[in-house]
Amino acid sequence: MIGLGSDHGGIELKNYIINWLKENGYEVKDYGSYDTNPVDYPDIAEKVCNGVVKGEVECGMLFCGTGIGMSIAANKIKGIRAACLSDTYSAMRTKQHNNTNVICLGGRVIGPELASEVVKSYLNAQFQGGRHENRVNKITALENK
Ligand code: RB5
Repeated sequence: MIGLGSDHGGIELKNYIINWLKENGYEVKDYGSYDTNPVDYPDIAEKVCNGVVKGEVECGMLFCGTGIGMSIAANKIKGIRAACLSDTYSAMRTKQHNNTNVICLGGRVIGPELASEVVKSYLNAQFQGGRHENRVNKITALENK
């Protein structure tokens, strides 16, 4: 199960990606927002990230105008490693190296076809562990300081 959330700047791209995920056999949970009325992206980031931390969903995808506000908010939540993405290489590497559990995309930055390729690259990648596990553990240690 993948958890998704957006503000008004990301809702159109979120809806496209929800359809893309369903067509490709993924189950989704939409944490809102559900219309184009303005909402504050930290509120939505919190809902999706809590879903990830509690294990309601395996990973999260957040959408705002740039993806940046969502990623800043998501990375404040303990246990979340969020990346703001707009290319497929970074999407693959952030899963392989950072074990990212939330990705953030900008509905005003990338188009739907590139966004679905970014999502595909992320979902098809596996965390590589090893030396990267040690580094991710150091990120967790920073969280606990
Ligand atoms: C909303 O206008 C916009 O600030 C938001 O979607 C996002 O881009 C913030 O980072």
